Amino acid sequence: MNPEYSQLLRRHDVPGPRYTSYPTVPYWTTTPGPDDWLESLANPVGTGPGAGAAIYVHVPFCESLCTYCGCNTRITRNRSLAPPYVDVVLAEWQLYRDRLSPANNLPLAELHIGGGTPTYLEPRDLGRLVEGILSGVRLADHAELSIETDPRVTRRAHLEVLAELGFTRISLGIQDFDPAVQKSVNRVQGEDLVRKVVDEARELGFRGVNFDLIYGLPFQTESSIRKTLEAVGRLGPDRLAFYAYAHVPWIKPWQRTFTEDDLPVGEAKRHLYETGRDLLADSGFHEVGMDHFAKESDSLWKAANDGTLHRNFMGYTARPVFPLIGLGVSSIGDSWRSFAQNEKAVEPYSQRVLAGELPILRGHVLDREDLVLRRHILNVMTQFATRWAEPELRTPFLEESLPRLAALADDGILELHGDGCTVTPIGRAFLRNVCMALDARLARKDPGDRLFSRAV
Ligand SMILES: C[S@@+](CC[C@H](N)C(=O)[O-])C[C@H]1O[C@@H](n2cnc3c(N)ncnc32)[C@H](O)[C@@H]1O
Ligand code: SF4
Repeated sequence: MNPEYSQLLRRHDVPGPRYTSYPTVPYWTTTPGPDDWLESLANPVGTGPGAGAAIYVHVPFCESLCTYCGCNTRITRNRSLAPPYVDVVLAEWQLYRDRLSPANNLPLAELHIGGGTPTYLEPRDLGRLVEGILSGVRLADHAELSIETDPRVTRRAHLEVLAELGFTRISLGIQDFDPAVQKSVNRVQGEDLVRKVVDEARELGFRGVNFDLIYGLPFQTESSIRKTLEAVGRLGPDRLAFYAYAHVPWIKPWQRTFTEDDLPVGEAKRHLYETGRDLLADSGFHEVGMDHFAKESDSLWKAANDGTLHRNFMGYTARPVFPLIGLGVSSIGDSWRSFAQNEKAVEPYSQRVLAGELPILRGHVLDREDLVLRRHILNVMTQFATRWAEPELRTPFLEESLPRLAALADDGILELHGDGCTVTPIGRAFLRNVCMALDARLARKDPGDRLFSRAV
């Protein structure tokens, strides 16, 4: 690595948000009341052409704990919890149906089921969940139904139920194929197991296959990353997420089960990413936004070129769809003007839903400055550039952020124009840092150093 680049990595490898939302969750202050939340869902702004609603359903259960995991999970082998959970999610959806007027009943453009591990549910429960959500719902043209799966618990019967109900996108948690890495994080799965799920999914008509990989896990080396990506090349997904390992053991204490000395950090971690990125380029994958890659035939790559790429709590999507209604524990809904997150644990979530209440735990109603900065941060994350020429894209904080942006420009991370900025190719490693410069709430209140994972 050249010394100047090493220095940049050292200087900018500070704790920072991943900007799946703005304001970021720790800065949410104004939880919307249920009526305000429903009103903002019924009148979403920021919708583009092909307007429709999106639904995200969170299924928290997993059979065993992967010790790197940062998701909201409930580890249990007690399968009797799952059928009642499906009932409660459907009851929550009914609360929305009863309260959102039919006049605002937008067609459903996206349904995404994530977790935890949705295929922890027995196929019949998964089918019941999806049928219950879709019954009586008008699907938009080209609606996309997608699901996250763990190959270790995904059976052909799951895929058959999903294909029958119209699912065409599937995401598989891969993380890494190296046996030593897998053992250290309690996530052992071989290439053959993954191949079986991919082949069955393709045979049943799934045309969008995503893999989740992580760099920065214990014991990963350049050579292990090469082997993992060679296996990925053989398995042939359409797109993939190559996530930076988020190490936050003060929030997720099981991340202490491996020693920090075994973790590649700073330059070593970035080198793993760049090794992976270059191998992916050789196999025909293009970098999209931050940590995501897609083949030219995939809608994510087309969206990156057409300027429709969007980022939300699930990562990158090919188009913005509002409102997003979140169902299930910890799910986050988004109407562009406000966010609402559900209770995080199954018991309080279930109690509130069964009492006929929307189970909102916290949220945020965006003020004008939030809305303007949200647009700029989204632009940086999706288009590597933003402009503030028009009055509606201006807010006084942008003046305040200029010295921080100028410092990033001095480091070659971005170019400042009179009315905006463009991230340079080298600056793409520092996308989170550029967003941090535009983050008014972070500038005004130090979050302390034990909230976010490191930015590089
Ligand atoms: C909900 S999980 C995916 C589905 C399924 N539970 C599985 O693991 O196969 C979503 C993804 O988040 C990523 N992830 C989880 N914890 C992470 C962490 N601490 N840092 C970075 N990525 C993480 C993993 O790549 C994982 O596949
Ligand atoms: S990575 Fe997936 S399977 Fe592993 S604990 Fe997290 S959510 Fe569950």
